[in-house]
Amino acid sequence: MPRTDVGSAATVQPAARVAGELTVPGDKSIAHRALMLAALGQGESWIHGLPDGEDVLATVGCLRSLGANLQRTGGTVRIRGEGLRSFATPHGPLDCANSGTTMRLLLGVLAGSSVSATLDGDASLRRRPMDRVIDPLRSMGAKIESREDRAPLAVTGTSLQGRRHELKVPSAQVKSALLLAGLSASGPTTVVEHVATRDHTERLLRAMGTDVGATAEGVVIRPSHQPLRPIELAVPGDFSSAAFWMTAAALRPGWSVIIGDVGLNPTRTAFLELLRSMGAEVKVEGPAVDTEPSGRVTVTGQRLRPIVLGAADVAAAIDEIPALLVLATQAQGVTTIDGAGELRVKESDRIATMAEGLRRMGAVVEERPDGVSVRGPAALRGATVDSHGDHRVAMALAVAGLVASGPTTIEGADCVAVSYPNFFAQLRELTHDS
Ligand code: S3P
Repeated sequence: MPRTDVGSAATVQPAARVAGELTVPGDKSIAHRALMLAALGQGESWIHGLPDGEDVLATVGCLRSLGANLQRTGGTVRIRGEGLRSFATPHGPLDCANSGTTMRLLLGVLAGSSVSATLDGDASLRRRPMDRVIDPLRSMGAKIESREDRAPLAVTGTSLQGRRHELKVPSAQVKSALLLAGLSASGPTTVVEHVATRDHTERLLRAMGTDVGATAEGVVIRPSHQPLRPIELAVPGDFSSAAFWMTAAALRPGWSVIIGDVGLNPTRTAFLELLRSMGAEVKVEGPAVDTEPSGRVTVTGQRLRPIVLGAADVAAAIDEIPALLVLATQAQGVTTIDGAGELRVKESDRIATMAEGLRRMGAVVEERPDGVSVRGPAALRGATVDSHGDHRVAMALAVAGLVASGPTTIEGADCVAVSYPNFFAQLRELTHDS
């Protein structure tokens, strides 16, 4: 399933002003989990506000190939779940496309099922490390075959034993894969994480009646012989997508954006504090708490200061670091990020791809194996930059283009469709560029 990125280019004009109010597509992390868990439940679940990015569509496609009864009308999906035992062996490989979350979480689900399946993805996903899920799943008894711990991954469902895992890297994908495997294992499964990661899986599992919770020992799930209850869920806006607009507003004093109905799960919002430390004005209204909290965020630009980030900060704002690097180019001094090795194994090597793009625009960036520093303020100039097929790199560089002195062309810009198909249209609205 490797795809070559021959995608189209997009050009961003310098903005005279960024101002406006908008909403962003539904949260991708929540959507993947809600779809999978609804298919594992017993009865009719409804998910509203499902994002239409390619990553989430990959999960929809995989679940359908496994026999799930899923009807999607616009952003609403009805799923008639019949439990894990109703999953059928698919006819061909399951295409996870560019989505690490689809692959890692489904591997956890399928490890304890009664089906056999091969999980595959595009060229980027085939490069990403899978030992982080394969090894702990094998320690529960899972049967998984791969070449050098990379996709394609062939899993043969079998009975699993619950056990205690200590995460080597902070990863919500790994934690979630293990909890999902734990659902069908014999005995409790414990996941010890040294840095807390997003807890969407735990929240949904609890809402569906599972015995799962954070204890002094770690996150513990106890399998139950009761089926998961169906859910009705409105997916809030994706905080990580909203972060690009927050960044755009923060780039210049007086620029401002308001983002309505955005997810405010505390395990996702560390970037708001980072924005504040850099000097931006951040107002949060809400949150309204349902299974997932959501509210309204206003960001207004002020003079920017540099900051210093360590491993825990990086883990808490992992998907926002590309945007933060753009902000760093406009801060008065050196922003230093350490403990950021995980950025190198995302959809692209985000330290390298962001450093390359920002340098082409005139930024001063120093790369280290495990970190990056940016000296600001830099007078950015329009340039031709490359997304390297990474949606967040494309969006971050597009936002940088708003404060460049000429047009910025982002090659391979169509990869924004992975999480945010409407990104460039909304960028034009926010910058009043018609
Ligand atoms: C995600 C977890 C994070 C994040 C990714 C989505 C999830 O990945 O970067 O975009 O939905 O669990 P890791 O688990 O690899 O840190």
